[in-house]
Amino acid sequence: MLAAVITELKDIPKAKDADLAELRLDYIKNINNAKLKNLMQNCRKPVIVTNRKKSEGGFFNGNENKRIETLKNALELGADYVDVEYSSDKKSIRDLIHNKRKTKIIVSYHDFEKTPGDINKIYVRIKKLNPDFIKIVTNARSVADNFRIFDLIRKANKEKRKIIAFCMGDYGKFSRILSIIFGSQITYASISKRKESASGQLTINEMVGHYRIKKINKNTKIVGLIGNPVEHSWSHIMHNAAFDAFDINAVYLKFRVDRLKEFIDYFRKLNIMGFAVTVPHKIKVMECLDEIDRQAKEIGAVNTIVSKNGRLVGCNTDCHGAIRALKAKTRLKNKNAIVLGAGGTARAIAYGLKEEKSNIIILNRTAEKAKKLADYFNCDYGSLEHLKNIDYDILINATSVGMHPNIGSSPVPPDCIKNGAVVFDAVFNPYKTKLLKIAEKKGCTVIPGIEMLIYGNMMQFRLWTNRDLPESVMKKMIVVYAKNASN
Ligand code: ATR
Repeated sequence: MLAAVITELKDIPKAKDADLAELRLDYIKNINNAKLKNLMQNCRKPVIVTNRKKSEGGFFNGNENKRIETLKNALELGADYVDVEYSSDKKSIRDLIHNKRKTKIIVSYHDFEKTPGDINKIYVRIKKLNPDFIKIVTNARSVADNFRIFDLIRKANKEKRKIIAFCMGDYGKFSRILSIIFGSQITYASISKRKESASGQLTINEMVGHYRIKKINKNTKIVGLIGNPVEHSWSHIMHNAAFDAFDINAVYLKFRVDRLKEFIDYFRKLNIMGFAVTVPHKIKVMECLDEIDRQAKEIGAVNTIVSKNGRLVGCNTDCHGAIRALKAKTRLKNKNAIVLGAGGTARAIAYGLKEEKSNIIILNRTAEKAKKLADYFNCDYGSLEHLKNIDYDILINATSVGMHPNIGSSPVPPDCIKNGAVVFDAVFNPYKTKLLKIAEKKGCTVIPGIEMLIYGNMMQFRLWTNRDLPESVMKKMIVVYAKNASN
């Protein structure tokens, strides 16, 4: 179930897509019985009444007896759920449980700093109080902290205990969705951005619209992006919309991953379709897989993992994405193509250009790196300054220059951009980079990086689901989204 966290009375109507409303009384001024009753009625959906003190991440700073009193009042007024912290006086918790009538009592434990080592002990202690729900929410300092919470959810399920558990923080964000697949009962969302009541909380719109939380169940297949950071990625919007269009029971998440091998080893045992892989894991991940396909091996990087009968196979769709985006606008055979950059992206694009029989020159800030790549592809190389002396048909930026937030930079000066050339920028945020804006003014054919992303994602979708993404629909949606995001 999805609970909308209400911190301001005026937000109640905005919780319409949630299953429950959590009334955070500690945010609401001058609360009394009449006002509480009114509020509960206005919510028009089951209500969780919560009144957090400061040490539990809340704003209530009055007398502790008064705080417990408000929870008792909520019981008497017939609140559907009352959440009381395990750190409260144990007699007060027992009294609430004893007098609960139809109200369900959630006994909650929060650690805003870490995921403690003795999380099982905490669970056992709360269990002894026999509440309707055991809630354990901790801060993930590493992706691996989530795994202990997921194991705890499984244990509670086996014991037929109702549990609400997930991790806070950037490393725990995905657990707010995944915990529901594993059997956690409630996940919480903010009404809108900047109204989060805890770190890592997503908005109702993200939960319902982007992640389809209401369609998730224990059979939902897991897929997602592994990287660090991952916040900037929009692929979840595209893939989840496609799952929706095809009615596929799967969810695409964003996993901020620090301990890569531990992550892969944990997830390979689960109901996964595979993963997309981004910076900084594209090379390192190869050591964690069972098989790597020929192209990914030759490119030397994996950006897609497919789970095939329990075996993890590494592939690369960057190359396909870039070449398809280019071929939609120009022929490649025998064309003179400049690749700016000598990192993983440059390598995947150069590989594809070579297969298409273009004449490639690799230019990079660090010329030795350009040489290494050029030796591999048996082509010419130089530093970025060499561009002004070279005649070319196609210019490709495969450096990170111009990427958000450094949107004012271009990898090369305007006078090096040839009138009428084809200019492709692998940077996809912003939608139109500085390089592309200059190129457009010079009458060039420009290809935004989002095109490479779309074609790459389409191939990933096929690898995971054996279905073809409806290109027109996806393209329309992502371009609209990207344009909005860059404004
Ligand atoms: P990716 O996997 O996205 O290609 P990468 O392997 O880190 O990422 O490669 C980044 C590329 O952007 C490199 O070619 C890098 O140039 P160096 O090899 O000289 O480091 C290039 N790059 C990054 N910042 C740059 C800058 N400010 N100016 C020019 N090139 C830059």
